[in-house]
Amino acid sequence: MPQPNAVKCLVVDDEPRLRRVLVRLLEGEGFTCSEAGSGTEALEMLQHDPVPLVISDLRMPQMDGATLLREIIARWPTTAVIVVTAVAEVESAVACLQLGALDYVAKPFHLDEVRARVMQALDKRSLKMEVEDYRRTLEQRVQEQARRIEELSLERLQALVHFLEEKDPYTSGHSVRVADYSARIGRQMGLSPAVMDTIALGAELHDIGKIGVSEAVLHKAGKLTEAEYRHIMEHPVIGARILAPLMRDVPPALAIVRSHHERLDGKGFPDGLKGDQIPLEVRVVGVADSFDAMTSVRPYRPALSVQKALQELEDGKGTQFHPPAVEAFLAAFPDPSALPVTTPEVRPLHLPPPLDAHRRSSPPD
Ligand SMILES: [Fe+2]
Repeated sequence: MPQPNAVKCLVVDDEPRLRRVLVRLLEGEGFTCSEAGSGTEALEMLQHDPVPLVISDLRMPQMDGATLLREIIARWPTTAVIVVTAVAEVESAVACLQLGALDYVAKPFHLDEVRARVMQALDKRSLKMEVEDYRRTLEQRVQEQARRIEELSLERLQALVHFLEEKDPYTSGHSVRVADYSARIGRQMGLSPAVMDTIALGAELHDIGKIGVSEAVLHKAGKLTEAEYRHIMEHPVIGARILAPLMRDVPPALAIVRSHHERLDGKGFPDGLKGDQIPLEVRVVGVADSFDAMTSVRPYRPALSVQKALQELEDGKGTQFHPPAVEAFLAAFPDPSALPVTTPEVRPLHLPPPLDAHRRSSPPD
């Protein structure tokens, strides 16, 4: 049973005498009451001070009780509304119950009846709020579990990426280093934690599509034929296809996988995206990926020197690479002797928070 002395109540009636009767009764029960002489006045008062209980006459000039009820239900769904009717208006009262009023009292009313109905309505309101709270908690738990399951699946794919890379001395540690370079660029650019998580996720998994590329082509020592090059360059699309079901809530991470071989000038793979069509997260990883690829030995060429690779980044600014990302890379490594980085430890992946993170209005007290 709610404690009336903690409960505020608004009495709405165009007849001051009836209003006073109700107010006196409720104050006698320990409620704190305010009064409104019309529906419009009631809405204005609720706007400034929402209350858990409204008792409103049904027949009033300007705005009738049913209209007021509709407004209250739409704007303050946790407010309990009791309508006051004349005996001849029972049908209207029933219609109000269907609209969401918690109860009605018929005039002329007995004070004991009003008291009982008010307490019942507050009980119903508490119960409704408990059910709603329970539903929200449950929904939140289900969402957390679903995210954890997605994270575990992504971690398995992450393990698979590392396993594939470890099998090949040319690519060993590539993805963790790309994630590391990307994180340093992102920090230098002052990107938000959520964007940094997105970048970490996409960077770690960006080359997963190589699982669908023939090993003979991947490890070929000589120059690739045109067809072999095209085959290798299918890996962003294959990767995006593999990850799409797991990255539904993080489109920018999926974009890193699909678009990390795009170039600002539109001459990249697979979609020929240009400039701003390439999301910022992708542009950051693009710089990191290219630097690590250039400074790693490949079956068909030795590693480029750090100096030469840095020069390539400089030269590619604005055509291949996003200039602020290149500048952030250079600023993050003022001493080139710290390059290339040693391969860091693999860290567990985290799904960034969903974009529509939750605003919940609290009920009036
Ligand atoms: Fe790649």
